[in-house]
Amino acid sequence: MASLGVNIDHIAAVRQARRTVEPDPVTYALLAELGGADGITVHLREDRRHIQDRDVELLRQTLRSRLNLEMAATAEMEAIALRIQPEMVTLVPEKRQEVTTEGGLDVAGQLGPLQALVGRLQAAGVAVSLFVDADAPQLEACATTGARWVELHTGGYAEAGWKEQPAALARLEEGSFIARSLGLRVNAGHGLTYQNVEPVAAIEGMEELNIGHTIVARALAVGLEQAVREMKALVQNPRRDPLFGNRQP
Ligand code: PXP
Repeated sequence: MASLGVNIDHIAAVRQARRTVEPDPVTYALLAELGGADGITVHLREDRRHIQDRDVELLRQTLRSRLNLEMAATAEMEAIALRIQPEMVTLVPEKRQEVTTEGGLDVAGQLGPLQALVGRLQAAGVAVSLFVDADAPQLEACATTGARWVELHTGGYAEAGWKEQPAALARLEEGSFIARSLGLRVNAGHGLTYQNVEPVAAIEGMEELNIGHTIVARALAVGLEQAVREMKALVQNPRRDPLFGNRQP
């Protein structure tokens, strides 16, 4: 059964829209935990567009679940991770102009530096996950870095039209299989919604889904605690084929 990591970046994005103190993502992290979040994920971006350093510090002190720090593979972020000691660091690519993380990390293209960074973080007791597309060469490179975890990028699946979605799902299934054959543990995330999450949660070997935007959007209607509870129910008890079966022409 997969667990649920709740990404609270978009709560911080609302606060930063006014550069004020509310809504405070730290408060909402507690509500997410009360709704059943198994972990809290934040992306501390270089431009600090949503999550701030203070949020990460306070989350480290207040969370009762696990802290997953998404970050770029930079010296600045490494120093922060080593000081904060999250349960997990997820290394993601970062471009200043993007609205959100666009593609997976090119692990194969920067193997040496990533291998060294993964080694330093793991030596300090921080688990490392690499956010990658479900491609065999990238997954093989992930295993070579010594990281124990990957997060499969589900953006392509989420954006695919209903005709392409089964093939996109099959790629994720194969990615999970390849990753596990290489000794890696498997998370996934990006673009997952209440409508499309179930087949991904049902993938064999899936350990955790990291989900943010759709939960924060649903929280406007029902409150964050309830929105997390609803998502957790889908992640824990997924129907394998809820969409495709209904959409045959
Ligand atoms: N996983 C990673 C690596 C991400 O960068 C993001 C977005 O910050 C997510 C999961 C969550 O994506 P979404 O907000 O679309 O659920």
